This record gives sequence, structure tokens and C-alpha cells, in this order.
Amino acid sequence: MIQAKIAEILESDQFLQEYHVKGWVRSFRSNRFIALNDGSTLKNLQCVIDFENTDEELLKRINVGAAISVKGTLKESMGSQQRVEIEVTELEILGDANPEEVKFTILSPKKHSMEKLREQAHLRVRTNTFGAVMRVRSKLSFAVHKFFQEKNFHYVNTPIITGSDAEGAGEMFRVTSLDLKNPPKNEDGSINYKEDFFGKETNLTVSGQLEAEAFAMGLGQVYTFGPTFRAENSNTSRHLAEFWMIEPEVAFCDLDGNMDLAEEFIKYVLKYVMRHCKEDLEFLAERQASEDKLKPKAERSDMSLLEKLNFVLDNNFKRVSYTEAIEILKNSKPNKKKKFNYIIEEWGADLQSEHERYLVEKHFKSPVILFDYPASIKAFYMRLNEDQKTVRAMDILFPGIGEIVGGSQREERLEVLKEKMEALDISEEELWWYLDTRKFGTCVHSGFGLGFERLVQFTTGMTNIRDVIPFPRTPQNAEF
Ligand code: 4AD
Ligand code: MG
Repeated sequence: MIQAKIAEILESDQFLQEYHVKGWVRSFRSNRFIALNDGSTLKNLQCVIDFENTDEELLKRINVGAAISVKGTLKESMGSQQRVEIEVTELEILGDANPEEVKFTILSPKKHSMEKLREQAHLRVRTNTFGAVMRVRSKLSFAVHKFFQEKNFHYVNTPIITGSDAEGAGEMFRVTSLDLKNPPKNEDGSINYKEDFFGKETNLTVSGQLEAEAFAMGLGQVYTFGPTFRAENSNTSRHLAEFWMIEPEVAFCDLDGNMDLAEEFIKYVLKYVMRHCKEDLEFLAERQASEDKLKPKAERSDMSLLEKLNFVLDNNFKRVSYTEAIEILKNSKPNKKKKFNYIIEEWGADLQSEHERYLVEKHFKSPVILFDYPASIKAFYMRLNEDQKTVRAMDILFPGIGEIVGGSQREERLEVLKEKMEALDISEEELWWYLDTRKFGTCVHSGFGLGFERLVQFTTGMTNIRDVIPFPRTPQNAEF
């Protein structure tokens, strides 16, 4: 008797071998055919029971959602849906699922809306779609580590609770141990954070970049891969309040090197999952194609999911300066179908997602790396160019997603950095340790941040970012 996962059994050709397998019932037909799933693969294992010789009470308990243990023999299947099946010799119910209650959940075998699935995020992993997305997500995570470890990057764990605002954008969740109903006060009435456990105002990190920079100044090349938090109240299909970010940081690397690294990295992880998640990706591609059919023509994707993935692998990302991009947008003709209802921008304005999508999907028809943005719309730590008005920033824009990566060459010159901080009212006292990295052996260095959920979104073709993270944290969802 071999204890096995369904993924292995479905590949096996050891007919007459005895297998022991445990999983959850997806369906039970004709008192005879159980479709069993254990999460190891998209596919179900057909387990056939001899109902005439099975206890009636036991048969009644084989319900959708129940956890069962099955022992049986591997046989070639007569059915057209599957190659093999298990002829059951022993069946045990490990955990019942009452059909009267199941029918009110998303486990009930009918089509449920994505909103409904989100309301039962603890159960949605038992659906084909979420099983596939979560397996792809897991493999992508592994590929992220594999890529950087093979390149001899060191993995660093940067703090979750921090006193600094790495992006200087003020979108932070406060962390405090004070009793906010009755907080200790300063003389002027403000909350006295000195009495807090941390002795100062702290928040959940928006990015591990500043700490990663410090570590790159000793370990040479590092990467983080951890949760980050943004208290921005954006209800879009691309924003979460809690998301995972991958942030490499490399000493002695300029912006060109940074672009090369980002492109190589993205292609590597995509290639990896295309090789290792074939079945799940094919399923997600079919799913996307059938969803697409329901959309108005103008909103349908030009390419299938697999074509889109191959397209990224086969093409060089187009590298374009912000100034060139603005010229393209200014000269673009308004789209009659209103798919891109963009306004022609002036130099200095931040690009809206419509502009990004126009550049990627209509103009270049390729992933785009935009670089050298106006200093005024980017964070304080980016290196100022000789023109004194642009910084060595880069954003990578992807079809259907928009910005997937944000990065830059960092300002390594102490005096310039101090001037920029002063102009933006960022206190030197707070970032004294960061400034130290520019005092002791400063050097050219660069890095970027890739939003992991946006990558999973792109890879799986899911339209809403809430559907690529196990338990999404958004202004509406923090229950679980
Ligand atoms: O562009 P951002 O804000 O850059 C940084 O945080 C830098 N410190 C990164 C670095 O240079 N080390 O964020 C980086 C990426 C974005 O391109 C996007 O993919 C993702 O993080 N991102 C979000 N993903 C989901 N929900 C949100 N609210 C996000 N905000 C940013
Ligand atoms: Mg950004």
C-alpha cells in the first residue's frame, strides 16, 4: 500500500497497485463515483465504490466537502474523462460536511460570483480557480528565491514595524501599544509616544528598501521578500492595503544594470512557472478565454493568457525615457472607442494608468521600462540627474497591469541627499542611520520593488488583485 498524493496517482502506471489517499469530496455521482481532490493538482481522482457492498449509512455521509480516506486499487478507467481510477476497497469518513449547510456555501457545486467567493475566502481555496492560482503563486515564490540564490544574492528580512516612512508618502498604518482611548499626553495635548513600548511613533513598513540599502552596503547584493503595507484608500483592482514585495538592492550597480536585472528576473520566474505549472496555467487560460467572451469587444484581450506570457518572454522590454513617453502621449490621437480616454499630458505630470496602458498595449505593444522621471513626482532617495530636474527612476509597465516594478539608482551623494530631504521636509534625525550609509564608503547602487500580487495577477490572468492573495486586506476585507 502506497500513501500518495493525487498528482502522483494520476501519473502512475502501476496498475493493480494498492494506494491510500486522503482528500475532500468534490462530487459524488450515482452512489458510485467520487471525484476526490487533495490540493496536489487541479485534477480530481475518480474513486469508484461498490455501493451494493457498502454500508448505507456510510454512503449517506459521502457528501460534497467531506474529508475522506480511501484505500483501493489503481485501475485503467473505462470513462473518457480520466485515464486511471481507484477501485475502492476501504473508505473512511474523516470529517463530515452536512449538505444542508454546504448548500449555503461556495462549496456547493454551482457557479458563484467572484464577490461571493471573496466573502468566503477561507473556503475558496477548494475551488478549481483558487487552487490553481495559489499553486502558481507558491511556485512563483519559489522561483523568486531560486533566481536570486542562484545569482548569489543574500536574502534579508527587513523590519515590519519601523519608525521611518521609506517612500515619504505618508500612507502608513500606525502601530502602538498605547491605550488610545486614554493616551498619555504631551503638554500641548498631543499623544506622548515616548511612553509607547517603542518609545516613538512607529508604523507598519511600506517598503524594506532603506534597510535593504544598508545591507547591500555590506553584503553587496541582497533581496527582501516580505509583506508591506499601504494605508491608501484605493479601491482598484490593482491595490491592496497589505501586499508582498520583492526588493533587490545591488551595490556598484547603475540604472542600466538595474533594468537588466529586473528584466532577467521577471523572465526567469515566468519561464519557471510555465514549465512547472503547465496544467494550472492551461486551466486559467481557458477560464480567461471564456470570461473574455462575456466582455464587450473593446475590452477583450488581444492575446490568450499563454500567448501573453510567451510574448513577455520573447520580447525585449522597450526602454523609453519619461520625456519621450510624454511626447508620444501628446501626439497620440484620442481613441474613439474610449478604451483609452487619456488626456494629453504636460511634462512633469504623473502618468495615470490609462497613459501607462496606452504606451504598453497600443503604442509599443510590449512591456515598457520608463526611466528618468521628473524629480518632483518621485521619492527622495532617487539619484538626481545632471539636468537637475529628472531622477534615475524606472517603472516597468505591463499589459493589463500597468506598473509592476518601481525602482531607481539611489542618491549616493551625502550632500545632495541631505538637500533633497530638506526640500521635502524629511528629518535628518529620523534617518540618521540611512545617512550614515552615505558617510562610510558610499557607492553607486540601485534596486527595485516588484509587487508580488501584480506578478501573480499577470501570470494567472486574474482581473482583480484580491483574487491572487489568500486573504486580501482592502478597505472592505479584513475579516479573516
Ligand atoms: O513603486 P513603489 O511604491 O516602490 C517602492 O516601494 C520602492 N521602495 C521599491 C524599491 O525601489 N525597492 O512599489 C513597488 C511596487 C509597485 O511597482 C507595485 O508593483 C507594487 O509595489 N505596489 C502595490 N501592489 C499592490 N497594492 C499596492 N497598494 C501597491 N503599491 C505598490
Ligand atoms: Mg511606484
